[in-house]
Amino acid sequence: MVELYLAPLHEINCLSFRLLCKNNGANTVYTPMINTKSYLNNPNNYKWIKKEAPVIVQLIGNNPLDFKECVKKIKNCDFIDLNSGCPSMDNTKNGSGAALLRDLNNFEKIIKSMVKYSNIPISVKIRLGWKKDESIKIAKIVESAGASQIAVHGRIFGNNYSTPANWQAIKKIKKNVKIPVIANGDINSTLKAKECLELTECDGLMIGREAIKNPFVFNDIKTYFKTGEILTHSKNDKINLILNFIKLYKKYENYNNAELKNHCIWLCKGFEGAASIRNNLGKCKDEKEIKKIFKELF
Ligand SMILES: Cc1cc2nc3c(=O)[nH]c(=O)nc-3n(C[C@H](O)[C@H](O)[C@H](O)COP(=O)(O)O)c2cc1C
Repeated sequence: MVELYLAPLHEINCLSFRLLCKNNGANTVYTPMINTKSYLNNPNNYKWIKKEAPVIVQLIGNNPLDFKECVKKIKNCDFIDLNSGCPSMDNTKNGSGAALLRDLNNFEKIIKSMVKYSNIPISVKIRLGWKKDESIKIAKIVESAGASQIAVHGRIFGNNYSTPANWQAIKKIKKNVKIPVIANGDINSTLKAKECLELTECDGLMIGREAIKNPFVFNDIKTYFKTGEILTHSKNDKINLILNFIKLYKKYENYNNAELKNHCIWLCKGFEGAASIRNNLGKCKDEKEIKKIFKELF
C-alpha cells in the first residue's frame, strides 16, 4: 500500500492538525518548516517536536554548519528534512529554500553535513529546479550525498499553482534514483491520487492544500486503493471532524482564537451556508462559542 504524507505547511501544520490528519489516514506528517537559526537561537521553543506520529521535521536555512548543529540536537522524529522548495522572497533572498537549487554546491554540502551529523535519516524536499527543470541532476545529488528519501513538488521555482504539477518529471526521477520518491503537487482527490501513482510509480504521495480543507482525503484514497470504493462524507461527518479538531486543538495547543477560527473556516469550505458560518465564526470570542456554532448545524 502506498504511503500517504501530509505535506509541510507553514503556519498550518500545528500538532493538533497533524494529529487530525493522522487520525484520518495520513501515514506520516511533516512539521512546517523550521528556520535553522531560529531553532539554534531558542531550541526550547521547539519542545513540541515529539514522536506523535511518524513525523518528519523540516528545516530551512542556507548554512551547512547551522544544519550540523540542528541535526545534532533534534530528537524524537523519523526523518529530518531539508526544505529546498520554498519560493518565498524572505527565504530565497538569503539563499534558503528553493534558492538552494541555484547553488547546487551549497545544496550538496548541506545534505552531506546533515547526513554526517544526524542519527536520524535525512530526507530532502525539492522542486524540479530553479529557472529550469534540472530535476534528475538534483535528485542524483540528493541520493549520492546520502539522503534516504526525496519528496518532489513537481514545479520549478518560478511556477505558481496555476501551472499544473509536472508528474512526468517526477516519473523520470523515480526511474533514475534508488531511494524512495514521494510525489507531490495537485493531488486533490482519490482519482488524482490513482492517476499520479499509476503514472509516477512513486513510493508515496504527499498532499498539501486539499488536506487543509478536507483531511478525509487520506482515508478516502486508502479505501479506494484497498476496495475500489469512492467514499463520500455527509455534512454531519464534517461537523464531527471539526468538533474533533477543536478538541485536539484545545488539548495540545497554546490557545489562539484566530488560529482555531482559521482552521474551522478552512475545514468548512464547501459547506452549504459556509459564508454565513464564516461570518458567525468571525464574531466568536472563545472555543465554546466556536463549538456552539458547529453543534447547532447538526
Ligand atoms: C499554506 C502553505 C504552506 C506551505 N508551507 C510549506 C513548508 O513549510 N515547507 C515546504 O516544503 N512546503 C510548503 N508548502 C508547499 C507544500 O508542502 C506543497 O509542496 C505544495 O502545496 C504542493 O502540494 P499540493 O498541491 O498538494 O498543495 C506550503 C504550501 C502552502 C499552500
